[in-house]
Amino acid sequence: MPCRACGDAVTQFLDLGRQPLSDAFRIPDDPSDEFWLHLRAVVCHGCHVVQLADPVPVERMFHEEYPFRTSSSRRMASHFAATAERLVAGLESPDPFVVEIGSNDGTMLATVAARGIRHLGIDPAANMVDEAVARRVNARAEWFDATTAARVRDEFGPADVVYAANTMCHIPDLRGVFTGLETVLADDGVVVFEDPYLGDVLRLGSFDQIYDEHFYLFSATSVARIAALHGFTLVDVEHLGVHGGEVRYTLARDGRTPTPAVGALIATEDRTGTHDLPRLQAFAAGVADRREQLRDVLMDEQQAGRSVAGYAATAKSATVLNYCDIGPGLLPVVYDTTPEKQGRTTPGSGIPVEAFPQDLADYPDTFLLFAWNHADEIVAKEQEFVERGGRWIRYVPEVRID
Ligand code: TMP
Ligand code: ZN
Repeated sequence: MPCRACGDAVTQFLDLGRQPLSDAFRIPDDPSDEFWLHLRAVVCHGCHVVQLADPVPVERMFHEEYPFRTSSSRRMASHFAATAERLVAGLESPDPFVVEIGSNDGTMLATVAARGIRHLGIDPAANMVDEAVARRVNARAEWFDATTAARVRDEFGPADVVYAANTMCHIPDLRGVFTGLETVLADDGVVVFEDPYLGDVLRLGSFDQIYDEHFYLFSATSVARIAALHGFTLVDVEHLGVHGGEVRYTLARDGRTPTPAVGALIATEDRTGTHDLPRLQAFAAGVADRREQLRDVLMDEQQAGRSVAGYAATAKSATVLNYCDIGPGLLPVVYDTTPEKQGRTTPGSGIPVEAFPQDLADYPDTFLLFAWNHADEIVAKEQEFVERGGRWIRYVPEVRID
């Protein structure tokens, strides 16, 4: 398949094997067949974006039972409140209009709404749209594409800001999204979006950033090239520490001068070979090593008679569990705070997901930290577990137990 963003040829560099849909938590003993896809990553010769080789069934992924809730992390909730304040502070028109694509439970737009600013959240997950509406956010359960964009512009006028967090990378039909942006954005408006950064994935070896919902892994180089195909310029980039390393990209219609940060990040990507096949193949070799190391650590714990549980049934964990062939035999339970996931089993790997034990006495000896991107928040919260001698297994940036 050619590149979904620009149509050029692609080359494969990573094969993570047969994988389920990462958020398709299963009801125990569900007799229906599980949906599987072949998870392979390719790099484009034209725009240099990294993407999945095979199509993903978006309608089966983002629907009225989508279980991911932005507000499940306190740090992310404060990140989005701060983001909203910054977006609002940058608004100059007398009656501004802010659009968020992938507004989830309205965590970001709630702050915009509280300022009395016209806004609209668009998200195909109807359950999360309901939660956003309950927070007085104006949101609709729809897919963002060229048709939706035209309707939004007719109804509300052009958008001063279109914002998206952890959403652009979810949408295989990126050309449809960009056509929509061309339609809905005001002449002097900006598109601001943040997603996991390819440079961080290579640096940390965080292969679990690759799963069905992360169809693209962007970089400054690839975003600048894709934007240029649609009359947009990448005018700013900002590296963010959240979610294991992201970049926030700001696009404007052609004509605006980029900040020095854009050229600097593109130069770094050139220098470190971010899109070069040897670099990407070295990353893939490191991933295969990590599988063996992680399995070894889990088997050592088992042989030593120490209990292990997974910490947080993240979407990312689907890649780790299925690629490393970890099932209930090696990891009997994964704990997670999300009610929609509790009482179900992890996709593909069939491990029960439960609420965290109330009592520290019921905690395991060791946690396998799937939510490593929230490590600071979690380690602070679980201080008693650590003081009692509890240990963490991590696999990013390397496999270790301490
Ligand atoms: P993600 O933000 O990396 O995708 O992970 C979110 C999942 O992690 C979500 O299911 C909630 C869960 N989680 C916990 O169970 N406990 C925590 O302390 C945090 C921060 C997340
Ligand atoms: Zn391309």
